[in-house]
Amino acid sequence: MPSEPANAAPARIPRHLAVIMDGNGRWAERRRRPRIIGHRAGARAVNVCIDFCIARGVQALTLFAFSSENWGRPEDEVGALMKLFLNALEREVEELDRRGVRVRFIGERERFSEKIRERMAAAERQTRNNTVLHLSIAASYGGRWDIAQAARSLAAEVAAGTLAVEAIDERLLASRMSLAELPAPDLFIRTGGDTRISNFLLWQLAYTELWFTEALWPELDAGLLQTALDDFASRERRFGLTGAQIALAQPNETVE
Ligand code: IPE
Ligand code: IPE
Ligand code: MG
Repeated sequence: MPSEPANAAPARIPRHLAVIMDGNGRWAERRRRPRIIGHRAGARAVNVCIDFCIARGVQALTLFAFSSENWGRPEDEVGALMKLFLNALEREVEELDRRGVRVRFIGERERFSEKIRERMAAAERQTRNNTVLHLSIAASYGGRWDIAQAARSLAAEVAAGTLAVEAIDERLLASRMSLAELPAPDLFIRTGGDTRISNFLLWQLAYTELWFTEALWPELDAGLLQTALDDFASRERRFGLTGAQIALAQPNETVE
């Protein structure tokens, strides 16, 4: 590997990476296998992604595992996914904890079985003090659900007389959204070839850099993730300002 010049600017690594892990079903169908085989292969790719983030110093990773709309899939696929989810919760949490990963879940938990909800809460409790990587799993999650639940929490305070309507602004609503304690995602990756958001983090992605690949999620490897990071590092994020204004700001400074 060529050595970098001594005065090279530090590579821009996203602090927060958000990923739509798409293409599991097609990966299996191309092999004439049931879709659930693709979901199993997808679970392995999750570990590739986590390893990569830890190795490259990405501090927060948010993975879209199951959307609000995915509940509408055929019953046997939803059932198999729930089983896989439960297995992963039983198998992976020890190792994630050992590696310093803090695990959290975002989404409408009430829709999951009692057993899954208990495992989710246990995983969060067990890993709560870890700081190496902040992993958020979006499950039964929808960006519209997220905005609605944030609005509902503010409305409840107004109804209780503890919040004035005039006090509601973007900052206050943002404070009630999922992931409020993290910086907004710097980079978004979607595998599977479709170029849409599919009701992922609608609010939080306002100024996120978007990156799409034809590769299917089970095909993920470190080389592909590095290509996305290299592309990210070459982009100029302007946040609505002019290029000249951005050039005057400190390198890596977030202008928001
Ligand atoms: C993503 O893969 C995983 C989930 C949505 C649970 P898909 O199951 O959507 O795979 P494709 O898009 O049908 O190939
Ligand atoms: C988005 O993928 C949701 C997840 C990856 C969990 P979908 O496969 O559900 O999205 P659409 O239906 O292609 O938009
Ligand atoms: Mg899909």
